Amino acid sequence: MHSVNPMDLSGRVALVTGGAGGLGKGSALTLAQFGADIAVADRNTEAGNALVAELRDMGRKAFFIDTDMMDIAQVRAMVSSVNERFERLDILINNVGGGRPVAFLEQSANSIDRHISLNLLSALHTTQAAVPAMIEGRRGGVIINVASTEALRAAPGYAVYAACKAALVSFTRTMALELAEHNIRSHALAPDMLETEGLTPLLNAALEAEKAARDRYIPLGHMGTPGDFGNLVAFLVSDMAGYLNGLTVPVDAGATAASGWYRAPDGRWCLYHGS
Ligand SMILES: NC(=O)c1ccc[n+]([C@@H]2O[C@H](COP(=O)([O-])OP(=O)(O)OC[C@H]3O[C@@H](n4cnc5c(N)ncnc54)[C@H](O)[C@@H]3O)[C@@H](O)[C@H]2O)c1
Repeated sequence: MHSVNPMDLSGRVALVTGGAGGLGKGSALTLAQFGADIAVADRNTEAGNALVAELRDMGRKAFFIDTDMMDIAQVRAMVSSVNERFERLDILINNVGGGRPVAFLEQSANSIDRHISLNLLSALHTTQAAVPAMIEGRRGGVIINVASTEALRAAPGYAVYAACKAALVSFTRTMALELAEHNIRSHALAPDMLETEGLTPLLNAALEAEKAARDRYIPLGHMGTPGDFGNLVAFLVSDMAGYLNGLTVPVDAGATAASGWYRAPDGRWCLYHGS
């Protein structure tokens, strides 16, 4: 049943992993703006507590859970504390993730394991631990898995990261079916070029010529913000999107659609960088 305003998230509880910064923080703030109470899980205590203070200033219930998302025991403890504090869970944002560039043949076994742990296992374990509370609540729920545009295309230097994100898209589709009987909807988001701390080293590493070309790579011509991302999250978890399930949505100003098309310095669309 629709609330009066179908975007209203008042009384709903969201858990955001990696929620202290970047797209997680953008999601937390936008969900709170629409009325949701928020549990922020992150390993950055200072940023997490600062965000919680901000969320409380907005009039929301919020608390920080210091969690290393690569540790399954900590992931389970995180979900337990959400259940204890809020006694319900409506929205799960599996956001944590990241990677460092390395040619696959040079990637150490330890680095492969860490990438898989952060970008795939964290979401699997969180989902498995958190969904029972959604089911028990009998109010349905929404899971948002934050993948990447790299899930949908090749990613030189990011082979394992991209493989994990592709797996997350597949996992999302299966959850969309397995959890449908509980009215739990699942979506994957595929962001690209949203300005966050996580993206900064990658952008700074680019050559000056590449930096100049960046905004021509992005069809809308500029980078996005965590707020742009949060807006989509808020819509997808709201009753406005109650009939949507199992989507993979690029949040990339059209970069996935471009699929190799590029704007030349004179404004023409071309297929070869620099042509
Ligand atoms: N920004 C983009 O354009 C973009 C593009 C593609 C994919 N993504 C994906 O979006 C998600 C968020 O990315 P972002 O750009 O906001 O990253 P970010 O690095 O800016 O923020 C990540 C947050 O996760 C936290 N974190 C990292 N490792 C953790 C761990 N082990 N345990 C707990 N917390 C941890 C950090 O402290 C930080 O608060 C990631 O899954 C990333 O792969 C982002």
